[in-house]
Amino acid sequence: MEDLSLHILDIIENSLAAEATDIEVQVEERITENILIIKIKDNGKGMDKETLVNVLDPFYTTKTTRAVGLGLSMLAQASKEADGSFDIKSKPGEGTDITAQFVYNHIDRKPLGNMAETIAACLASLGPGTDLRYRHSRNNNEFLFDTKEIRKILSDVEINNVEIISFLKKHLEEGLIEISEKE
Ligand SMILES: Nc1ncnc2c1ncn2[C@@H]1O[C@H](COP(=O)(O)OP(=O)(O)OP(=O)(O)O)[C@@H](O)[C@H]1O
Ligand SMILES: [Mg+2]
Repeated sequence: MEDLSLHILDIIENSLAAEATDIEVQVEERITENILIIKIKDNGKGMDKETLVNVLDPFYTTKTTRAVGLGLSMLAQASKEADGSFDIKSKPGEGTDITAQFVYNHIDRKPLGNMAETIAACLASLGPGTDLRYRHSRNNNEFLFDTKEIRKILSDVEINNVEIISFLKKHLEEGLIEISEKE
C-alpha cells in the first residue's frame, strides 16, 4: 500500500466493523517539528487482551488464515519504516485508540495520499447512528469535519446520499487545500 490514507481507510473500516457509533480521525502535520501523527479512535466493541497481542504481532497475523488480518500490522510497519512509533489501546466494551507517528521528512515515510477521498469513501458506509469526526492540522492551521454538525444542517437527507457525498468531498478537498496554503 502506497498511501497512508489507504491505511487510514482500512483502520476506519475496522472501527465500522466493531460497530462504533463515534469515530474520530486526527491527522497532525507538525512540519516544524518534523512529525506526522495519525490517530484513529472509536467507541466500538474493543479488543480483548489476546486479540490485542495478536494484532501487534505481524508474524502471527501473516501466519493465520484470515482470523486476524493485516490492516493494523501494516500501519505499524509503515510507521516503523519512517522511524516512528505505533501504539494501540483497546478495551472490550469501551473502544479502541490507535496512534501512529512518523518522522515527517523520512525518506521512507509514505505520502499521506488523498484524505478527502478516504473520508468521503467512509461516508458511504456510515449508518444513521454513526458519526465521524475528522480533524486535520498542518502546523497551526486546522480543518475540522464533523458529521454530527453536517447532519444538523441536512435534516431530512441522509449523509450517505451520493450527491451529498460528492458535495462533501469537494468541501473536504477545499478545506485541506486551505490549510496547506495558509503558511
Ligand atoms: N477498532 C477495532 N475495534 C475492535 N476490534 C478491532 C479493531 N481494529 C481491529 N480489530 C480486531 O483486530 C483484527 C485485526 O484487524 P486488522 O485490520 O489488522 O485485520 P482485519 O480487519 O481482520 O483484516 P484486513 O484489515 O486485513 O482486511 C480484526 O479482525 C478485529 O478482530
Ligand atoms: Mg482491517
